[in-house]
Amino acid sequence: MVNRGEVIFAFGMALLCFLSVGGGLATGIGLGRLLERLTAVEKSGPDLGRGKSLFTQNCGTCHGPEARGVPHLGKDLVTSKFTMDLSDDQLLAFVRKGRAANDSSNTTGIPMPPSGGNPSLSDDQLREIIAYLRTLKN
Ligand code: HEC
Repeated sequence: MVNRGEVIFAFGMALLCFLSVGGGLATGIGLGRLLERLTAVEKSGPDLGRGKSLFTQNCGTCHGPEARGVPHLGKDLVTSKFTMDLSDDQLLAFVRKGRAANDSSNTTGIPMPPSGGNPSLSDDQLREIIAYLRTLKN
């Protein structure tokens, strides 16, 4: 004989299982959506946080942590008309090439090393640095 208490208990357990599986699924779907959004943001443009740290590591020594320049090392890039007037592609080409001390366009007599002295920087990494520079306003 199955008594009423047991039936209610079994029913309760079944309901609990159903709810926890359903809840788990719903959470899973929610997390999936969230991850999708996060990666979509990353895909939509260069990563500025990474651009900033790449700048600090590769350009900051000469150009200063906020790109405000360091006397006798590197120029202020925030107020640089040269930088503002170039497209991202042109700026990328400039940074790759650098500007030798004896270059007629050199303004300080101090050389800007090709790729900031780090030829292992990829085009994508330089683009992230450039995107970061574009966010700096006077
Ligand atoms: C070893 C020091 C040094 C490093 C490292 C360096 N630069 Fe420079 N950079 C210079 C100097 C010096 C000049 C100015 C040259 C001149 O007098 O015309 C310059 C000029 C520039 C200019 C042109 C500014 C203007 O108004 O003419 C840009 C843009 C620039 N650097 C970007 C970068 C970026 C981006 C990095 C990192 C990937 C970097 N530099 C790393 C020394 C450096």
